[in-house]
Parts: sequence; C-alpha cells; structure tokens
Amino acid sequence: MMLRSASAIARRVSVSNRTITRSLGAFIKDIVVPSSHEYLGQRAFSTAPQKGTEFIFSRLGDTSKITPLIAKLQQECWDGYVSTGRGCQTLFQLIDTDSSGTITWAEIRFFLENVRQSDINEDARKIVLEASHDHELRFAEFQAWLIKATRVDPGLKNTFASENYNKSLGKLHEVEGSTHSWNKHTMSQNLRRMQYAVRGEIVIRADALAAEGKKIIYTNIGNPHAVGQKPISYYRQVLSLCDLPAEYGVDNPAVMSSFPSDVVQRAIEMREAIGPSGTGAYTNSQGIAKFRADVAHFITERDEHISLPSNIFLTNGASAAIENVLTGLIGSNRDSVMIPIPQYPIYSAIISRLGARQVGYYLDEDNGWGITERELEERRTAAVERDGLEIRAFTLINPGNPTGQVMSREDLEIICKFCAKHDIVLLADEVYQKNIYDDNKEFFSAKKVAIETPGCENLQLVSFHSTSKGLIGECGRRGGYMELHNIDPYVQTQLYKLASSGLCSGVDGQMMTSLMVRPPLPGEESHTQFVREELEIFLSLKRRARSLVDGLNAIDGISSTKAEGAMYAFPKVEMPPKALQEAARHDQTPDNLYCMSLLEETGICVVPASGFGQKDGRVGFRTTFLPQEEELEKAITEFKRHHELFLQKYA
Ligand SMILES: Cc1ncc(COP(=O)(O)O)c(C=O)c1O
Repeated sequence: MMLRSASAIARRVSVSNRTITRSLGAFIKDIVVPSSHEYLGQRAFSTAPQKGTEFIFSRLGDTSKITPLIAKLQQECWDGYVSTGRGCQTLFQLIDTDSSGTITWAEIRFFLENVRQSDINEDARKIVLEASHDHELRFAEFQAWLIKATRVDPGLKNTFASENYNKSLGKLHEVEGSTHSWNKHTMSQNLRRMQYAVRGEIVIRADALAAEGKKIIYTNIGNPHAVGQKPISYYRQVLSLCDLPAEYGVDNPAVMSSFPSDVVQRAIEMREAIGPSGTGAYTNSQGIAKFRADVAHFITERDEHISLPSNIFLTNGASAAIENVLTGLIGSNRDSVMIPIPQYPIYSAIISRLGARQVGYYLDEDNGWGITERELEERRTAAVERDGLEIRAFTLINPGNPTGQVMSREDLEIICKFCAKHDIVLLADEVYQKNIYDDNKEFFSAKKVAIETPGCENLQLVSFHSTSKGLIGECGRRGGYMELHNIDPYVQTQLYKLASSGLCSGVDGQMMTSLMVRPPLPGEESHTQFVREELEIFLSLKRRARSLVDGLNAIDGISSTKAEGAMYAFPKVEMPPKALQEAARHDQTPDNLYCMSLLEETGICVVPASGFGQKDGRVGFRTTFLPQEEELEKAITEFKRHHELFLQKYA
C-alpha cells in the first residue's frame, strides 16, 4: 500500500518539481510524526526512529531496491532545508537509512551523492570524504556538520560579516554553543547564509580601528554625505519648511526674508499635498498621491512615453522596492533570478534570504562590462535545463554598480528582447541614472527601450530609482520609487497589500523623491543657485572618477576600466603567488587578504571584489571615488604605497 503511494510519488517526480515538493511534503507529514522531544540547539533531542524513516523503510521492503526513491527524497528534503533552513530532523532520518538513530559517514557519503553538489560547502564535503573511520554521528553532531555544509562558499567568506565578527574584533575564538533557544541552529538559516559585502568583515575591522583612534578613509559604500558632500540647499530649505510648524515657517512673517520665494511656495504646496496631519503621520501605503504624480510626470518627460501615478510606489529607498518586488516574485526554492556578475549585493542577499536561487550572467570586463545575447541564453539554458530552475526575474543595473559602465541602447535591447522572449520580469535598477561622466554616453531607461523595441510590447518591467545617489546623496532620508509597467493588476494589488503591511514609506523620503523629480525651474528664485550647486558636485565627481581610475592604472599590477558612471572603480589586482598561498593558508580569499592589508597599512576601507562576484581567478576590490578631492588624492598615493609594500612582502 505504502509502496504504491511511494511509487506514485516517484511518478510525479517526472511530472513537475512543484508537484513532488507538494506531494512529498504531504507524504512526509503523513508518515514522519515529529517527536515531541524535538528541540534544536543545546537541548535534548530524540530521534525516535520507530516513528520516523523506519516507518517509511519498513513499508518499502527491500531498501536496496528503493535507493533511487531514497535519493529523490533526500534531494527534495535537502532542497527544502537549503531554502527554508527547516527540516533538519527529517533530513537526519532520511540519511539514517537503517533507522539506527545515529548516522555514519558512509550514510552521509550516500547522501552527498544524491544532492546538488553546488549547495555543499567544500570544506564540509572534505570532512566526510576524508573521514578515516566510520564514526557514528548523533543528531547534534549532524546539525553542526550541516552548519558547515551550508556555510557560504569560501570565495564569499570575507563578505559574511557575522560569521567573522568575533575574529574581526580581534577575538580569536567564536563562542561555540548557546544556552539560548533562539540560536545558530534554530534561527532562520536563510538569514544565516545571507551575505552583504558592502558592510562585511573589512568594514567591521575598519570600525574597530576607528574606535581605537585610527583615521579611516571609508570608500566602501556610496554614501556621499558621510564623506563630505554638502547637501543641496534647495532640498533642505523646502524640507525644513515642510517640517516646521506653520507659525515658525510658512506662516511666519519673517519667512520671505529668510527663504527664496519659490522655496516657500513649494513648501506650501507640499504641505497641502501631505494634508493637515503633517509630516509626522502615516500616509497612503503607496505614497502621497501628489508626489506620485510628480514622479509620473518626470518619467513621462524623460522617456517621452506616458507614465501613470497609479503605477508608482514611493518606497524607503530603492532597497525596499527591490525587496518587495522580489518577495512578490519568489514562490519556491526552484525560483531564481538572473543577476549580473559582478552585482550590487542587495540582490544576492535578498534572493538567499527568500530561499531562492541566483543565476549569474557575466559582464564582460574586456568589453566595457558589456553583455551578449549568447551569454544570457547559455546561462538561462543551464539554469532551466540542467538545474531545473524557473527564472522569474532578470536584474540589470544601469549605470553599473560596482562596474561603473553605462549600458548602450543595444545592450538594453538585447536584455529586453531576451526577457520578453522567455517571459521573464525585468527589474531595472537605475539609481545612478544621473551619474554619467562620459560625454559620449547617454542614459536610456529600460522602459523607454522596451516600449520602442519591436517584440517587447508585453515585457513586464519594474524600474527603481533613489534619492540616495545622483547629485543628491541624501541616503539617510530613504527616498525612492518603483514604477510598474505591464504588471498584472492582481499582482499590483498584492504589492499594494505588501506595502500596506509596512504602513507607508517614510514621509521624509517621499518629500525628497518629489523634490528629486521636480527641482526648481528656470526663472524661479532658487534656480541659479540650485544649478550651480548641482554642477559643482557633478564636475567634481567627474574629475574624481577620472583621477581615481588614472591613479589606479598608474600602479604596476593594478588595472581598472573607466568609470563611465555611478560612484565606483572596480580594479583588478595581479597577486604575487606567495600572497595567493598566504591567503589559501588562512582560508581567506586573496582579495580579502589584500583589502585587509590595505586597511591596516593605510586606513583605506574598500570592499573585496569577491563580495560582488567575479570571474574565477580574478582578484580585485571596489572603491568609491566619493571622498573629497584632496582626500582622494592622498588615498591614490596611499594605494600605490601599499601596493609596493604588499609586493615586497610577498616577493
Ligand atoms: C545599484 C544599487 N541599487 C540600489 C541601491 C540602494 O539604494 P537606496 O536603498 O539607498 O535607495 C544601491 C545603493 O548603493 C545601489 O548601488
């Protein structure tokens, strides 16, 4: 009887992965009765085999004949574990094929043969393969091994701040074991595995050094005001009049002598848009209607194609928009998102937190970080046909972070056609659209290209913009928006529901977004000063983009592509063989070794390139060119001094 239902499951395997996940879930729930003693972490745990897999196997008869089914069950359960961090006990029971209550390395070896190799950390695999005797593992030992097995790839280790936190602070030993019920084993395993390089190990060490009084030049993050960029006066003036009680601000007789007339006028208008509750109250979940209309007007003018306020969501920076859209897109551990490699790591972070998979498409460094249709098709085919994944979305970042390229219209057409052809939702991250320093380059929005490219009429697209970048740099205000284009109205209502669960985005950010998309007009009193302030920032960024790249390229062994846009250079570094050996000896990525050495020697804090993804064998780092010009010049000299010392050290 049970055999029949088991083979029915096996039959369904070939029908669809989803079907098996669902039916297997029900199957396991029916027959694997979780023990009431199941406590994870430090507490007692009973593997009570008579209620677990023994029950399955006893019904299956001769286990040697059902090996393919056990293999399939292990793979499915492993997939579930990887994406949710749950099901550790069931996995243990499925590996314990003789239902002894303990497992052997031999049983784990059998398990390793059945599951996707790319999910298992190499070091954890080695432990199993190199175990000389067939030790019996109890559940707690298995849990500890599982943590190792799902620990991020050593190539990304330097980005995993929390796992290296103690070490970064100079504490050599991680405290093992916890008396808390909410611990390393019981917490969300997706969060445990999530990476975020931009605030990773190097930054934690930099903060520790800063706390000891060392001067640190932070070039790890695109946070302009933190490194000396002045806020643009117009924005701050309007914001302050929106926030101030009317009697101290817009209604005060002195206001006209303290503020330009158009600032006062704009503040009055914005206060009306916000309504009598003022800037301290929740707003509509999608954002204040008038501000969304400002955004829609801006997009219409920019693209020469209509944009509707109803399709705009104001969000807490682009980050919140990206997170909400990915939350709405990802439904299973087979869902995947194509992201550029190198990428801005918010994508990999959210994808892994949601338990989905990333499928990288490589940008071609030798070709200005361009893309080819062939690369996209090959990556998709491998993901779909070899790995059985479903591609839900495709991300482009234009201008690129960390790569700094401005995408050509042709590249955008390739992407739009590719997504339209395969029915993939395109996510266009365009937060650097104003940061273009190459006079021969122009920003084209993905929406404009999609609308104007034959065959892309039905392309589903979400575009993101932010008040954190451009010439504004008001990162802390958390302003931004997303525009939905060709998105199913039902999905749109669900995104509205999701936005509602967060009540609304910050009013500060909403106001900032309205100001970003509707700056003062020619003829208005603030206009001249506004244009001057913007231009000063722009020209300085342009100079810094060039001087940083030129400075890096002047160092023997370092080379960087031109920073056409955005705020970063992403150079590669030729590493002496001895440095590579040293990194391997310390179980570090070579770029982590390099960046840590740079930090300790010079106080310059950059991010190892491996945190963004790069081709195998490449070593490099990402640095912003945001420090003020004098500071940046010093940093360039220091890059050179450090590189020479590094070469001498590892000669
Ligand atoms: C490419 C890209 N997208 C999105 C963001 C998120 O920006 P924010 O959430 O501040 O709008 C950043 C921040 O650096 C970025 O570089």
